[in-house]
Amino acid sequence: MRIDVMTIFPGMFEAVLGESMIQRAREAKILDLRIRDLRQHTHDRRRTVDDRPYGGGPGMVMKPEPLVEAVEAIRRDCAHAPRSASCRVALMSPQGERFTDRLARELATHEHLIILCGHYEGVDERVRRLVVDREVSIGDYVLTGGELPAMVVIDSLARHLPGVIGHAQATAEDSFANGWLEYPQYTRPPVYRQLEVPSVLRSGDHRGIALWRKLQSVARTLAARPDLRESDSQTTR
Ligand code: ADE
Repeated sequence: MRIDVMTIFPGMFEAVLGESMIQRAREAKILDLRIRDLRQHTHDRRRTVDDRPYGGGPGMVMKPEPLVEAVEAIRRDCAHAPRSASCRVALMSPQGERFTDRLARELATHEHLIILCGHYEGVDERVRRLVVDREVSIGDYVLTGGELPAMVVIDSLARHLPGVIGHAQATAEDSFANGWLEYPQYTRPPVYRQLEVPSVLRSGDHRGIALWRKLQSVARTLAARPDLRESDSQTTR
């Protein structure tokens, strides 16, 4: 999968996405990640990307031209690629649809994703009208920009690209994948500071282990995130 990120802070990305599993996915050519400087798509000497809002109000608004032209340039660059029709443009913004594991899995099915990092008080509405397919929020809080959200989205969707996580089972049992939070996990030593690993996990009784894990998942979910079950029953009704 190819992902182009359009940002005014390209330097923020490498420390996070140049390490660990994401870096390995890049080296294995499973993920082709291209971080791009939005200011390369400005035409004035000061490389301006924002301006005052029409109608007044605090803060600045991101101008339409650099973002729209940046998307057009990337689309031209990949137009010859096979399946270029599956290229999608996502704008990171607190006004977007809530990012979930389901959306991560869906985004991971595209050949090519362009992520636009919003800033300031917002983005000129015409950017949405002209080039954005999806607007994505990582939660009900406002960050200073779309860079951290873009990294969250990339990290989360990369886990669903075939070959990134050794074990397909690992993502299948993730919290959220099946509507329940993940059960508690233990590793050695069997006793740590007087806290013992539950004996069933050391019993070799696979049915007993599966049952224990299911019960723990249910208990955790009802205690911490009952809303997950409520929304689940609403969608399956
Ligand atoms: N930009 C600022 N806050 C954001 C959020 N919560 N999600 C996505 N982009 C954002």
